[in-house]
Amino acid sequence: MTKIRIAIQKAGRLNEESLQVLKDCGISIDNGKDQLKASSRNFPMEVFYLRNGDIPQYLRDGVVDIAIIGENVLVEKGTDIIIAEKLGFSKCKVSLAVPKSVKYNSVNDFEGKRIATSYPNTVLNYLKEKGVKADLHIISGSVEIAPNIGLADAICDIVSSGSTLFKNNLKEVEVMLTSEAVLAVSPKITVERKELLEKLQFRIQSVLRARG
Ligand code: PRP
Ligand code: MG
Repeated sequence: MTKIRIAIQKAGRLNEESLQVLKDCGISIDNGKDQLKASSRNFPMEVFYLRNGDIPQYLRDGVVDIAIIGENVLVEKGTDIIIAEKLGFSKCKVSLAVPKSVKYNSVNDFEGKRIATSYPNTVLNYLKEKGVKADLHIISGSVEIAPNIGLADAICDIVSSGSTLFKNNLKEVEVMLTSEAVLAVSPKITVERKELLEKLQFRIQSVLRARG
């Protein structure tokens, strides 16, 4: 039997809420995230627990058919991937921030500055549009520490509650994009699996409507 293959974040902010949506859709997944792959008992679905940043490539290659992923990841790494449905959770911003003590006037202040980030494409495109050239330091996590240790003058990262910025004495000065969890689709999805996707989307839409 054909099954639809869905990628879910392995660990992190999206993991729990992604599984909750499936559950609310009446789809029971057999084993937890300790295994990298699981199946549903009552819907033709296989679940793959993957790293966020890898998911766009899996979709592109057609190794998975669909994914629950943050829009911010698609903006950074998967502008070619189609969004079927916005899911209304895991809302966040991708923002530029500077030390609190710095007087900030405009985006032009970033000219020639060192920016630490895990979102190089997002920052580069944003600054390019504004005609600003900066020097990027690409790091994969704990980005907000960079100004404190002298690695960078500013940072670009996800802002959710704002507490990481606050704790590191940083202030948000430019919001580059707002993001939420979405249902993304592989460009290589087969006709058969597209039918399963439609069934799933039908359920998701009623779950979202009930959530209001
Ligand atoms: C994420 C993100 C920000 C923070 C934003 O980091 O990179 O640092 O959460 O959330 P907040 O505004 O609610 O504080 P995460 O904790 O996932 O760790 P990482 O950056 O080391 O991956
Ligand atoms: Mg972080």
